[in-house]
Amino acid sequence: MDALMHSILNGKNAMPPKGTCMDCSDDELKAAVEYLTSRAK
Ligand code: HEM
Repeated sequence: MDALMHSILNGKNAMPPKGTCMDCSDDELKAAVEYLTSRAK
């Protein structure tokens, strides 16, 4: 989770920082990652 949050906040390769949502809060982005990872089973 910490590593994924680092990727999102700073960007990774072709992934833009914050997924381009510059007015999303860190908590909102973290909630999005928690949702995505909860579905990936
Ligand atoms: C809030 C919106 C978004 C969230 C929460 C999100 C989340 C993620 C996460 C968790 C990863 C995996 C990172 C890792 O492996 O460490 C990822 C990878 C990626 N995302 Fe997103 N993403 C978002 C928006 C976007 C958008 C808008 C784009 C393209 C314009 C994008 C392009 C990519 C790409 C290309 C990767 C693969 C990066 C790589 O490993 O080379 N993402 N994203």
